[in-house]
Amino acid sequence: MCGIVGYTGKKEACAVIIDGLKKLEYRGYDSAGVALQKNGRLVIAKGAGSVADLEAKLGDQFKAVTVGIGHTRWATHGRPTDENAHPHSSCNDEIALVHNGIIENYRSLRQWLIDEKGHKFHSETDTEVLAHLVEEYYAGDLLAAVRMSLAMVEGSYGLVVLSSHEPGRIICARQDSPLIIGLGEGENLVASDIPALLAHTRRTIILEDGELASITAQKVDIYNADGCLIEREVFTVTWDIEAAEKGGYDHFMLKEIMEQPAAVKETMRQRIDTTTGKVNLSELDFTAKELSSLEKIHIVACGTAYHAGLLGKAVIEKLAGIPVEVDVASEFRYRQPLLKEKQLVIVISQSGETADTLAALRLARQKGLKVLAITNVVGSSVSREADQVLYTWAGPEIAVASTKAYLTQLVALYLVALYLGETRGSIEPELAAEIVSGLKSLPGHLKTILSEESLSSLRPYCDHLAKWESAFFVGRNLDYPVALEGALKLKEISYIHAEAYPAGELKHGPLALIVRGIPVIAIATQKAVLDKTLSNIHEVNARDGAVFAITQEGFEDVARQVDSVFYLPSINDILAPVLSVVPTQLIAYYTALARGCSIDKPRNLAKSVTVE
Ligand code: M6R
Repeated sequence: MCGIVGYTGKKEACAVIIDGLKKLEYRGYDSAGVALQKNGRLVIAKGAGSVADLEAKLGDQFKAVTVGIGHTRWATHGRPTDENAHPHSSCNDEIALVHNGIIENYRSLRQWLIDEKGHKFHSETDTEVLAHLVEEYYAGDLLAAVRMSLAMVEGSYGLVVLSSHEPGRIICARQDSPLIIGLGEGENLVASDIPALLAHTRRTIILEDGELASITAQKVDIYNADGCLIEREVFTVTWDIEAAEKGGYDHFMLKEIMEQPAAVKETMRQRIDTTTGKVNLSELDFTAKELSSLEKIHIVACGTAYHAGLLGKAVIEKLAGIPVEVDVASEFRYRQPLLKEKQLVIVISQSGETADTLAALRLARQKGLKVLAITNVVGSSVSREADQVLYTWAGPEIAVASTKAYLTQLVALYLVALYLGETRGSIEPELAAEIVSGLKSLPGHLKTILSEESLSSLRPYCDHLAKWESAFFVGRNLDYPVALEGALKLKEISYIHAEAYPAGELKHGPLALIVRGIPVIAIATQKAVLDKTLSNIHEVNARDGAVFAITQEGFEDVARQVDSVFYLPSINDILAPVLSVVPTQLIAYYTALARGCSIDKPRNLAKSVTVE
């Protein structure tokens, strides 16, 4: 999520780091900072704001410094403030570090460091515990101290550390958060992403999970999880800077689609208790009384987030037994909704800045209702004004078309539904356990769906679709909101007119438009209505429409009915929408590609709609 750059060599470290951080700013940021080794001391400069603000603050003061680390932050734990900006330092100011990822057990470590070891903390971040731990274990070897500290830690990290006692040396470590070492001549670098390195070198080593590295200007030593020195292959980057920002993909949208397994995993992390298998939303502080007396929930959102809300309705009603109304935010505020006691409003917004969603939130609070926000941006307007916030940890989403944020919104809604069901005692423990185990299987299933083989199987249908100006998406039950989302994605980036219908509605009008070859994408993952959906597919087949079906493994009948079929790994029907939407995202992407559209920035659209 955040950006990291570290440098050791002969050049001005500040300039190298600032330049590298600027190359990572496309990922989003809210604060920035550097730690520099100067005359046997560490100097830290940091604050909320942009890298340019930091650069202005630094001026020319540190021209002679040749070793340092830097960071751009995209807030997760703790608001975007000066104190929460990285680097974080230890009590004695002899250790400074920057970190991407989440330290899951930071609360207990922080308490232990304060109570037992007398450490003083200055920020709200999970990261700061690492600086104090390294100080605690430091006995003359930074590598050993980092290794011992990480043994105490649960979570994910891309970590880069400096000590005032070890001039010219940088230690870094990786677990579930990328770090790449850049190999130079008389200088070496480390960064969280390749664009930050390209001005200096194309020779890189991509650290693997569990590995640590010791980096000086002359030498890079890499150690595996067992502490053994290892040889790693050098990867020579051939991408230009623009391709590198996109992780080698042609578009941010495709990169973000590919990031979905990790985004989903991150959003579930710490929220499912691994020992009890129960959902643990400790960040919410509703009372059990508030939750058990709830009589209705309103979900309010726009666009893709609204489609997530439609699935949220189905899932909350099914698992928690609470009636849910879903509104498009721009309608909610003008329809004079009946907002009463014992109701909760859930707003969903990736950006947390959508004007209509914010207005709906304000209306609900004016009427005395509590608002729970599901959002992706810490410190956004929605997160600041809501009573409670459940963050999706999708990371910055840059493409206008929302993909990974949508999947994480779905996951957040499943967690809310389970949390409500468990607190109110309205869900059978067996069903809850089944859904939890299904949720845990999602990242693996998503990886399967995103395999090279699956992607190439979609391409011929997309080439056909690209020649049309009109298409249909159909589905029943939980497949219908997925059809709506698939149609939105297609029209948004390929400019093909796409309509979504509950499959049973076809014969009430739209069937008149079905002609030879017209693309119809049928989502058929729900066992209970599979036969019905198949009979609707027949209606299209009978008129020579070109059906592309998205279904689950085991529903072999579907393949017999259509020309093109995409099989998803088998999963509980309730969770199928998290998987079935992915082929629709890919269909939109490859169709837009075939039509030569501006995929990441479609005409007339903005990423964040801050006006009514
Ligand atoms: O930031 P938000 O989630 O509040 O944005 C809502 C919609 O504007 C957004 O989902 C939009 O529909 C996307 N471009 C769809 O891909």
